[in-house]
Amino acid sequence: PTLSPIAPDLLAWFSQNARILPFRQDPTPYHIWVSEIMLQQTRVAAALEYYDRWMKALPTIRDLAECDEEKLHKLWEGLGYYSRVRNLQKAARIVCQEYGGQLPADHKKLLALPGIGDYTAGAIGSIAFHLPVPAVDGNVLRVFSRLYNDDRDIADPKTKKAYTQWVMEHQPPEAPGPYNEALMELGALVCLPNGEPLCDACPLAHLCRARQAGTQNTLPVKKAA
Ligand code: ADE
Repeated sequence: PTLSPIAPDLLAWFSQNARILPFRQDPTPYHIWVSEIMLQQTRVAAALEYYDRWMKALPTIRDLAECDEEKLHKLWEGLGYYSRVRNLQKAARIVCQEYGGQLPADHKKLLALPGIGDYTAGAIGSIAFHLPVPAVDGNVLRVFSRLYNDDRDIADPKTKKAYTQWVMEHQPPEAPGPYNEALMELGALVCLPNGEPLCDACPLAHLCRARQAGTQNTLPVKKAA
């Protein structure tokens, strides 16, 4: 079911309401990479301190590749999921050996690095390299379940695939990064879970099918895996 274009109103909202975050001030591939890995397990407010400390200690991918284990562990201490920081360093070493210390502007090459999955490759690719790729996290799944009033199980990979297709139908080729980030930001600030979406503040409320049907508090549907 086609939906009226969402990008213009979404991008206008994002330009006025985006949080000022350090990795948005200077969105290099390395900055986006480290911030997205940190944000996979930690709220933005809590991650900021870690992010600033990390970039002061390890300003380049080469610094990360060469960092000793104890220092690296200290920089991550409290964030948990230590496999993530081990993968960051493993990938940094590969990037130094294979790509001269710069992340490749290529979705498949990004995906092949340790710890970089669909979401992270999509975030780095679209935000740092302006590639027309999706970056679909839980926030984005929630936003699309409501926009389309779709009650399929978001834990089902088939649902994620279908929503990703919708995400790409609406992605403006000239602004894949802002579009992807605006969807995440809308999910984080307005299209909230737990029955408390702030529809009155939503730039897409006028075309949201869940809002029209009054089903926004029942979506998304997530069944036990
Ligand atoms: N959560 C994870 N990555 C994010 C981003 N780039 N913007 C907003 N929220 C996020």
